[in-house]
Amino acid sequence: MQTPQIITLTEQYLMPVYKPLPVAFVRGQGCRLWDAEGKEYLDFVAGIAVVGVGHCHPRVVAAITEQAGQLMHTSNLYYIPPQAQLAQRLAELSFADRCFFANSGAEANEAAIKLARKWAGINLGEDHKDIITAEQSFHGRTLATVAATGQEKYRKPFHPLPPGFKFVPFNDLPALDEAIGDQTCAVMLEPIQGEGGINVPDDDYLPGVRQLCDERGLLLILDEIQTGLGRTGRWFGYQHWDIEPDIMTLAKSLGGGFPIGACLAREEVATAFEPGNHASTFGGNHLACAAALAALEVIESESLVENAARMGTVLAEMVDDQLGKTGALDHVRGKGLLRAVQLAETVSAKEVQQHCLESGLVVNALAEHTIRLAPPLVVSEEECQQAVNILTEAVGKSSS
Ligand SMILES: Cc1ncc(COP(=O)(O)O)c(C=O)c1O
Repeated sequence: MQTPQIITLTEQYLMPVYKPLPVAFVRGQGCRLWDAEGKEYLDFVAGIAVVGVGHCHPRVVAAITEQAGQLMHTSNLYYIPPQAQLAQRLAELSFADRCFFANSGAEANEAAIKLARKWAGINLGEDHKDIITAEQSFHGRTLATVAATGQEKYRKPFHPLPPGFKFVPFNDLPALDEAIGDQTCAVMLEPIQGEGGINVPDDDYLPGVRQLCDERGLLLILDEIQTGLGRTGRWFGYQHWDIEPDIMTLAKSLGGGFPIGACLAREEVATAFEPGNHASTFGGNHLACAAALAALEVIESESLVENAARMGTVLAEMVDDQLGKTGALDHVRGKGLLRAVQLAETVSAKEVQQHCLESGLVVNALAEHTIRLAPPLVVSEEECQQAVNILTEAVGKSSS
């Protein structure tokens, strides 16, 4: 099928919730993608921070192929060997002791919200069910996670939403302190806000949040769906600030491109859940867990966390240097390979995104004047250079 036909079918048969760019990718390898007409692209979106190990990593492909030929799915009514191994691996890598597996980020956050409320019912009292989240946050599209998301544009059409969520400005400790009330049970934050603009908090913010939670007996839930698993140059975002959450959610890059989500918690919190409290038909099935185990193995054996830290700095410096000279750059922010290129207010990010696509570079227009760069963690210095060259040219075209 060629692109025009793919577009026609999509427009006719899909619910109109997406507004895709006029390209259909059919093949990928590492940081490269190819469209239906065979044109090659450098991918600096990585499925929005999903393919950390790069497209079609041979070890992930092999693990999926082997597992698919052996057993894809039974049920959580029975023990699942790769699920047990994956939970062990995630516990070894993080602060957590136990995992629950889901199929997406929103589902992982649903589990976190339910777990926090269950824990609070036991430990704080039945009236402690409120969760404080941040303005500009993004936690998913299910009703509870939309309710937890601090952006009115995602919430407004879908009222009535589940109650019990309260918003405070991100990176504002006094506002959080003031918002904590008699019914609060948890604070839920992205360590670096992703969809809200790649907003990195001040260095004292997350340690301050941790301290407030400790003083007031509240749980700290970190949504590391976008920031986790090496993306920011550490295994988990919280490690930049030397703190630990009580609950953490992962998804996106966990399966190396295959859908899987996870809610992790320390022992005392995790065991608030009892049999029957939560479940998922597909969550943690053989296939998804085999893919995730392979992806974790790749991140570790290819030192991708270290590469993300190194290439993130290289990329930010290149953007700063080259785009800085054009006068069209305001600043670059982010950590590791999760970066926002803040353009001058005269430059449209959508136009830059379109010019980049035409020149074979996939980037994401995150806001009116903001480009998100989130390449696979396997990206090389040469690929960063090539991307920044194309980006600089595209910004030049969009400025004139
Ligand atoms: C921080 C964060 N939380 C939750 C989600 C929702 O994940 P999913 O789309 O897999 O449900 C996203 C997706 O962009 C995200 O970035």
